[in-house]
Amino acid sequence: MTKHNRNRKGLFVVFEGIDGTGKTTQIEMLARVLEQKGMTVVATREPTDGQYGQKIRKLFQDRSSATPEQELQLFMDDRREHVREVVAPALAAGQVVLCDRYYFSTAAYQGAAGHDPRTIIAENEKFAPIPDLVIILEAPVAVGVHRVQKLRGEILNDFEQESMLDKVAAIFADLEGDYIRRVDCTGDAATVHRLVLDQVAELFSL
Ligand code: TYD
Repeated sequence: MTKHNRNRKGLFVVFEGIDGTGKTTQIEMLARVLEQKGMTVVATREPTDGQYGQKIRKLFQDRSSATPEQELQLFMDDRREHVREVVAPALAAGQVVLCDRYYFSTAAYQGAAGHDPRTIIAENEKFAPIPDLVIILEAPVAVGVHRVQKLRGEILNDFEQESMLDKVAAIFADLEGDYIRRVDCTGDAATVHRLVLDQVAELFSL
């Protein structure tokens, strides 16, 4: 285990990637495998459904209603609450936490909006536990957009416009750290699941 997580009992895996990469599906599939092995799994996500997460979701329809600074602050406040109330207690209790987006999304999305990604990461690491593994699901932006629009029948929200997602993807591609693993998610869910299992096998002794 790496230095940062020596003092905690649980294991913490985060899924990241642009919209339409299938993070939620992959978390559900991994959670099932880990639960079958007898682990207690907390599957959670950001933005949360809490007080700040609800404000964030309103921004999806009209991003211009907040300044970039206010937007960043909302994601930070949401995360602080999420860490305090969900992530840290679960890790302290020795549970497995699987999180759909975390501060790497803030680096990528608010970074794409003009903030410095490195500063965002440094500010988050002052209070947010560093994950044991960050699985970045990778697909071309056009594939992610196609999945959101055509397959889910959703309209792209203000955070999902293609020009913005190109910048988001570039920041995800630049992230470095010994806990970062990249997985090609252009295949079907079962194929991606097998690739994810390869990446987490050592951590979970699968
Ligand atoms: P998403 O996972 O797509 O939520 P849902 O499935 O409920 O629509 O996340 C919503 C959006 O929030 C996504 O476009 C990325 C954005 N986001 C940020 O801009 N910064 C952040 O720190 C996080 C966690 C998400």
